[in-house]
Amino acid sequence: MDYRRTYIRDLFDLPPGNPATAYGWVKTRRDSKGVSFVQIADGSCFKDLQVVIEAGTIPEETLKRITTGASVRFDGDIVESPGEGQETEFKAHSVEVYGEADPAHYPLQKKGASFEFLREIAHLRARGNTFGAVFRVRSRCAYAIHKFFIDRGFHNIHTPIITASDCEGAGAMFAVTTLLDAQGHGPEAKAALRAMEFSEDFFGKPAYLTVSGQLDAETLALGMTNVYTFGPTFRAENSGTSRHLAEFWMIEPEMAFCSLEGNMNLAEEFLKEVIQDLLDNCSADLEFFNQRIEPDLLSTLHHVVNSGFERMTYTEAVDRLAKSGEPFEFPVFWGSDLQSEHERWLTEIDVGRPVILTDYPKDIKAFYMRQNEDGKTVRAMDVLAPRIGEIIGGSQREERYDVLEKRIVEMGLPLEAYWWYLDLRRFGSVPHSGFGLGFERMLMYVTGMKNIRDVIPFHRTPGSAEF
Ligand code: 4AD
Ligand code: MG
Repeated sequence: MDYRRTYIRDLFDLPPGNPATAYGWVKTRRDSKGVSFVQIADGSCFKDLQVVIEAGTIPEETLKRITTGASVRFDGDIVESPGEGQETEFKAHSVEVYGEADPAHYPLQKKGASFEFLREIAHLRARGNTFGAVFRVRSRCAYAIHKFFIDRGFHNIHTPIITASDCEGAGAMFAVTTLLDAQGHGPEAKAALRAMEFSEDFFGKPAYLTVSGQLDAETLALGMTNVYTFGPTFRAENSGTSRHLAEFWMIEPEMAFCSLEGNMNLAEEFLKEVIQDLLDNCSADLEFFNQRIEPDLLSTLHHVVNSGFERMTYTEAVDRLAKSGEPFEFPVFWGSDLQSEHERWLTEIDVGRPVILTDYPKDIKAFYMRQNEDGKTVRAMDVLAPRIGEIIGGSQREERYDVLEKRIVEMGLPLEAYWWYLDLRRFGSVPHSGFGLGFERMLMYVTGMKNIRDVIPFHRTPGSAEF
């Protein structure tokens, strides 16, 4: 058997009279007088194929094995359909059942199973309508993102997954060590961990899973002008929210000779073009999300593509929030970090479309952001989206050696660890900017799915590393 070159989606285009073969997994079987109908899917498109089996074509014994979840191959013909709503149908001559799925045990039988339950059987959920659609959109979205950047002359680079530097300074990193192997996993391991000598560890110093590829991306941008990364990132934030994962994918473009304005323009163009690509290429899947998951999805996506994002400073946003009269759970004052309730009020109630907030207080942002003349704020930008809140975080970078060095020290970071990052400001420094898009937040936005665990095949969250 070769890999599949034709899929169920191709069969819908075949004219009547064509012999055809269909491979897939059974969704349902329905028997009525003289004929059986079997719905099968192979994940290639939203639509199932309906296979018509006339009585006597397939032995009764074989027919019984064709139950929900079984894997099958049907050989038959495309014929004109007497039914309404479709021009052709698939008439089976023979079947091969590759693998049965015992109806007494197959967990994915009922329609309308909750997303919580489906998370527990994440190894099977891609066979259902919703998750087939989610992962097709995920695939197309990744392609559209690469296409967007490659079309504009950006170079795709790969940055390390294991790193010794904490880019965001949030201290939410997973350690990478081989010392534990030497100590075993018994009760003595904890004591040994405390006494750990990092000089004896694999890398000779503490190492972590990266929270962002940005710092490395900056080094390549300052030589290749426009680059981007698209890779996994890790955060040990112990927050069980519906918008945070411990392992998520991030797209990080970095542009030399580019100001914050250029950065904002790119971010806006980027989101619009990727959404337009999905509207053009995933229409059946998005139609399903619009019907079943988020009623205003399609109108919202069209609206976003066709309207300018609002831009305002953090200071103005805080002002509007303070004057809103809304009973927020978290108070808003200048210097406070915005919570998702604030971000949602700004985008959903106040403005009604995505908002780019700029010039945040320097004390709530990372060390690398360019400081403004006021001494209080930095050239940060967050893109906030209705329903999601923060979808992109970025900034113009501090390109002045002295200012950056001072800020690293002020924030209590180990200066020696950033020698190479500082070198970029010693030799041929330029104004430069970049941002990071959380891939799963983007997918929540375009599918309307409410929980970030449902837009990644296998989620990693506190207490959860199954599959
Ligand atoms: O705002 P963040 O922390 O920015 C950075 O990491 C910068 N180094 C990016 C850059 O300038 N190159 O993260 C960027 C985006 C957020 O806006 C959010 O969409 C997503 O990453 N994100 C998460 N997504 C899922 N789970 C989490 N725990 C996330 N934390 C951030
Ligand atoms: Mg952020």
